[in-house]
Amino acid sequence: MQRIFITGANRGLGLEIVRQYLERGDHVFAAARKFAAVEHYDGKYKGRLTRVKLDVDHMDDIAAAAQTVRSEVNGLDMLINNAAINPRESGYRSLGSLEPQALEHSLHTNAVAPLMIVQALLDLLKNGTNPKVINITSQQGSMQYKTHGGGYAYSISKAALNMATRALAGDLGSQGIITMMIHPGWVQTDMGGGGAPLSAQQSASSLINIIDNLTPKDNGRFFNINGQDHMW
Ligand SMILES: NC(=O)c1ccc[n+]([C@@H]2O[C@H](COP(=O)([O-])OP(=O)(O)OC[C@H]3O[C@@H](n4cnc5c(N)ncnc54)[C@H](OP(=O)(O)O)[C@@H]3O)[C@@H](O)[C@H]2O)c1
Repeated sequence: MQRIFITGANRGLGLEIVRQYLERGDHVFAAARKFAAVEHYDGKYKGRLTRVKLDVDHMDDIAAAAQTVRSEVNGLDMLINNAAINPRESGYRSLGSLEPQALEHSLHTNAVAPLMIVQALLDLLKNGTNPKVINITSQQGSMQYKTHGGGYAYSISKAALNMATRALAGDLGSQGIITMMIHPGWVQTDMGGGGAPLSAQQSASSLINIIDNLTPKDNGRFFNINGQDHMW
């Protein structure tokens, strides 16, 4: 049984990853601002689902979340940084309307917060079995993919997350922790929209299969959802 902490667990891809790991028999720490959907699983997976209140933008929440985990287990086998934002307002997206607060908001939620969460949970990960840090990124954070304009806040923040992942891989690889980033495909969620080709179920199941097969050689890799190298 793996002990897994995942952010953004109450809807979209995060909720489906939670469901699939619970179904496999793992203990999931489902971190979210609200629990409307996760609550639904409480009765079904008794003792293996811990709800953790976490707004990733709040350092106090991050510290309290780490304490909650520590009060239940002495180690974590996986952290999945999944929570992210991609607001539609032009202040986040369009040259001519960009607003510094919007850019900073995305950078904080999508790149700074995942790094702070790794830092807060590091002692637990060091005590884990084959511990892993999985950062859910996006092709929009790839320098080679980004040959089009727009989407400033999201692209900048995911590129920053990718660099944070590389630095973490450099620091944590020698401590036995595998750190990697993955573009989950274009997925039917609130963020991806209904026209996306992949269901959350398909993306989560491919993601879990890739994670199952990770070895130390994969430390620092940027994957696509088919398990191949993503362009940088
Ligand atoms: N869908 C796609 O096509 C696609 C493509 C590439 C990458 N991705 C990446 O995949 C991951 C999951 O995306 P998704 O499609 O499932 O998005 P989504 O449906 O919009 O869900 C986003 C999740 O992040 C949470 N979140 C946002 N800000 C938060 C905060 N400050 N504190 C705590 N939780 C917060 C949301 O919680 P609330 O309900 O509280 O807002 C929600 O659970 C993200 O990292 C995204 O960038 C998605």
